[in-house]
Amino acid sequence: MRTTWSSYSNPRLVFGPGALNQVGQVVSRLGGARTLLITDPIMEGLGVVERVASVLKTELKVYAKGEIEPSTDAVSRCAALAREFNPDVTVAIGGGSNMDLAKLTCATVSSGKEPASMLGFDAVPGPIGNLVCIPTTAGTGSEASHSAVICNSDTGMKVAALSHYLRPQVAIVDPELTLSCPKKLTADSGIDALSHAIEGYLATDFSTLETNDSGILAYEGNHPIGDLYSEKCIRLISEHFLKAVHEPSNIEARSGMALAATLGGLAFSNCGVALVHALAYPIGNRYKSSHGAGNGIALPEVMRFLKGSRAERLARIGALLGVDADAAIEEVIRLRKEADLPERIADVGGRREDLPELAATAFKLEPLMALSPAKVDEQDLLAILEASF
Ligand SMILES: [Fe+2]
Repeated sequence: MRTTWSSYSNPRLVFGPGALNQVGQVVSRLGGARTLLITDPIMEGLGVVERVASVLKTELKVYAKGEIEPSTDAVSRCAALAREFNPDVTVAIGGGSNMDLAKLTCATVSSGKEPASMLGFDAVPGPIGNLVCIPTTAGTGSEASHSAVICNSDTGMKVAALSHYLRPQVAIVDPELTLSCPKKLTADSGIDALSHAIEGYLATDFSTLETNDSGILAYEGNHPIGDLYSEKCIRLISEHFLKAVHEPSNIEARSGMALAATLGGLAFSNCGVALVHALAYPIGNRYKSSHGAGNGIALPEVMRFLKGSRAERLARIGALLGVDADAAIEEVIRLRKEADLPERIADVGGRREDLPELAATAFKLEPLMALSPAKVDEQDLLAILEASF
């Protein structure tokens, strides 16, 4: 039986309204003389690039061609520019897409490997250099996680690269940057953060996972430090999620959600994601629905499936959400509904006859199946999908 676990986090997290103003000091501290800024046209239009340029004391090159769901081809294009410019610090500003693009760009430049060859677990061969991530949405937690989700240009499938080398050196989390985040994206991102915390909290115990020769696992399974991240994240989401969705300029709510998202990133990138994310990936790939929508659809029924194996933890989630021990699932359903998120697979264009294929695809994600605290087979996944249809 495994008797040890590891905990991972960024070396530095700068948090709070106005944190963006510290990017100049952060980059100097990393010894930067040449900074590559990776972002997208929307952020550029909002004046964020200008703000960063005004406080950086280094030479600056801007790559503002970040796109939604970046592909391995996009990584190759960005890496070509990075090779030419040869930065010593890379700064990513945006949602998960820009941060993940920057992560795999840094890995590509530092390793000399093809981006597609680094998808999957532990395929990044070494440190990726100085990367500073600055999120403008509150959800993916990419600023704190070891994950980069990239679309493989050869297969058209979204795949995660998971490597502890992909955790940024510094996360600068400035809730003011999320004030302009649209309502739907705020809801999508928030339910993703909640899914990270709940999946990490309900993941199988670290002791049940098998050791390997390297001692490095994609996910550690549930452990005490992961619990701290999850518990605080769930509490914050209970307090701030709906306010952030419906009162976009409420900085207190935005701050609560920004912190929750980072904590969710730390929770899942330590303890793991499991059945919810495993089901959300094929739903998103098949119907081109958002990652958050798929998670929100799957989350309550997966929680119901885990009632037998994780009753105590589900009760604790209820308490963290401010409801009775047996009302955690109903509360998640309420939050989803009041945030105007899709509730059923049919709401994102799903067809009942697709469900067996979705279940089969999810079941093939073995590392995620291994994180489930209850033994699961394809029929179980199909039942969860049918209940979520
Ligand atoms: Fe996620």
